[in-house]
Amino acid sequence: MNANILKILVNEEEIDRITTRIAAEIDRDYQNTGHKLLLLCILKGSVVFMGDLMKKITLPVEIDFMKVSSYGSGTASSGQVNILLDLHRKDLPDVDIIVVEDIIDSGRTLSYLIEYLRLKGAHSVKTCTMLDKPDRRDENLRDFYPDYVGQVIPDEFVVGYGLDYDEQYRALPYVGVLSPAVYSK
Ligand code: IMP
Ligand code: MG
Repeated sequence: MNANILKILVNEEEIDRITTRIAAEIDRDYQNTGHKLLLLCILKGSVVFMGDLMKKITLPVEIDFMKVSSYGSGTASSGQVNILLDLHRKDLPDVDIIVVEDIIDSGRTLSYLIEYLRLKGAHSVKTCTMLDKPDRRDENLRDFYPDYVGQVIPDEFVVGYGLDYDEQYRALPYVGVLSPAVYSK
């Protein structure tokens, strides 16, 4: 295990079970919709989860990417969502979107994106997250729940499986709690 990881929260076997379960839920929910299904990966943190998940979905899916920033560096949210890479397609009224996120913290990024993609004209927008920290939800987003959730976790800063601290640790194959010694320096 990496020396800066206090403990593993979701191991590789659990990740495999989670992605299998969610892929089956998506297969079940999007049969014969008459629309295209688009998995929209939110860069960079969701890229590992997205890769695992898309392989296990048996329905035809398209993929796309957006990049947003709500965090500066470090572990505290700036509270503002900026679109750094946008979604450009003209057929959104014919598209069912599933936004794929690594983790929901305050909920600001996802709730902003849902609204944004609906305004852009998507036929439907649902949300899928590998991890959820409901204890951290913004005051006015208390009732915000994603449609597909890998695992609910306590209020701890985690890295690995795509998630970073200052661009480090994304390639770890598990989700682990980062030692506070790393970011309180
Ligand atoms: P939200 O808008 O506050 O829900 O923030 C969501 C984003 O914050 C995620 O996509 C991550 O990039 C980042 N984030 C939140 N919590 C963590 C964490 O524990 N580790 C790494 N990144 C996190
Ligand atoms: Mg992210």
